[in-house]
Amino acid sequence: MHVDKRLEGKTALITGSARGIGLEFAKAYQAEGARVAIADIDIARAKEAAAQLGAGAFAIEMDVTRQDSIEAAVDEAARLLGGIDILINNAALFTAAPTVEISRLDYDRTFAVNVAGTLFTMRAVAKHMIARGKGGKIINMASQAGRRGEGLVAVYCATKAAVISLTQSAGLNLIAHGINVNAIAPGVVDGEHWDGVDAFFAKYENKAPGQKKKEVGESVPFGRMGRAGDLTGMAIFLATKEADYIVSQCFNIDGGQWMS
Ligand SMILES: NC(=O)c1ccc[n+]([C@@H]2O[C@H](COP(=O)([O-])OP(=O)(O)OC[C@H]3O[C@@H](n4cnc5c(N)ncnc54)[C@H](O)[C@@H]3O)[C@@H](O)[C@H]2O)c1
Repeated sequence: MHVDKRLEGKTALITGSARGIGLEFAKAYQAEGARVAIADIDIARAKEAAAQLGAGAFAIEMDVTRQDSIEAAVDEAARLLGGIDILINNAALFTAAPTVEISRLDYDRTFAVNVAGTLFTMRAVAKHMIARGKGGKIINMASQAGRRGEGLVAVYCATKAAVISLTQSAGLNLIAHGINVNAIAPGVVDGEHWDGVDAFFAKYENKAPGQKKKEVGESVPFGRMGRAGDLTGMAIFLATKEADYIVSQCFNIDGGQWMS
């Protein structure tokens, strides 16, 4: 039986896709027939990832905290791919600290990547999509951390709440151009990101390495931590025509952690 590929002929720019969830999205998109730009500040790993994916995957150096880098990366992606149909704003940093220890530097750095990076990459790609006149799909990576605060995670949670809000406003504004902006809010997804999260909790909650991961995995109603592959179905769906009428929404993919 022949099954049509759902993103045949489409092109996608995915930020922060040299590893983790972004890389899984790139692989899933490619498997559905899309050509992908793997854009990351870690160009060495982006190149490895693109080489692993093979034809139709391109590595692009991009620092989402710098406007010149955003503009250059969007131009390059548009040139290499022949236009951008889909943007996934996936690059992010995690940070944690008790309220009285939060540093300005950490705050500035995390907001620069997670919030300004998302907004100004969205702006650059939306401009390109509007000029091209074919509409488009923008998917922003939020988090369950954006749905509620957490004692040690004030800054990261605030960045992800901002991503949900930006998705709502940009979605309302850009749908007039046929551009759908939506978000995905994962729960806890195993990988290098969560190795870093685990290390923060080991430090601040005096836990053995790996202990926090074990606890959060057991607390998920589904019974385990998420895997990057658990998110790809929604990321593909939101990029298809079937999702044309979905505007400014944020979807929880978290094994039952959060309801909204
Ligand atoms: N892993 C989880 O449990 C989880 C849960 C909820 C939401 N999320 C979100 O999903 C997305 C992907 O998470 P992940 O687990 O794959 O994270 P990750 O840390 O494994 O990957 C993030 C990628 O972003 C890149 N990056 C960092 N700063 C950058 C910059 N200035 N410019 C361009 N690229 C930059 C990194 O090099 C890295 O490749 C993030 O937005 C994250 O906040 C993750």
